[in-house]
Amino acid sequence: MATTLTPVAQFIPSSQMEVLYSKEEIAGRVREIGAEITRDYAGQSIVLIGVLKGAAIFLSDLARAIQVDSTFDFVAVTSYGKGKVSSGAVKLIKDLDASIEGKHVILVEDILDTGLTLSYLRKMMMAHKPASLKIATCLDKPERRKIAIEADYICFKIPNHFVIGYGMDYSEHYRNVEDIRLMPPEQGGH
Ligand code: IMP
Repeated sequence: MATTLTPVAQFIPSSQMEVLYSKEEIAGRVREIGAEITRDYAGQSIVLIGVLKGAAIFLSDLARAIQVDSTFDFVAVTSYGKGKVSSGAVKLIKDLDASIEGKHVILVEDILDTGLTLSYLRKMMMAHKPASLKIATCLDKPERRKIAIEADYICFKIPNHFVIGYGMDYSEHYRNVEDIRLMPPEQGGH
């Protein structure tokens, strides 16, 4: 029987990419951040809002490292640009499911890069009048900032490298890689 061959995308195996943070190092930092959030919100309820798709894995680990009552919600944005470079304009493609008015909200993101996404989302969330709003990000690339915005909880600050893994993608690939790895420049990293 003839086999139909589908073209295979030219993505190099993640095992060939240098590890920036191992899954053990990530787990250690997530536990520390979770403990910090648990202390900061002792006795209160929080809403964790993940930014799809990149923050899904960080949110699921972080949520389990937090020992206060919590609920989840997710938003999705698009940045009008494929690949590594965002064009600047951000558009909401999935809104909150439930009202956050009067709630303690933590916005959970994979990377704080130029700041365009989180400043757009922060403004949008503030319009819903939460009791408080903080930002947790797995990675922070301060050198790349175009808009002044800082996260309250950061696992790691990194220089201007393009990374994949732990939810972060290159053209939608590599999100399931357990470690955070450096994308080589010849493969599209920088
Ligand atoms: P910002 O609006 O420039 O802060 O963009 C943040 C978004 O850009 C992140 O949520 C990621 O989706 C994406 N991003 C920025 N840097 C990287 C990277 O090194 N790897 C993968 N995605 C990245």
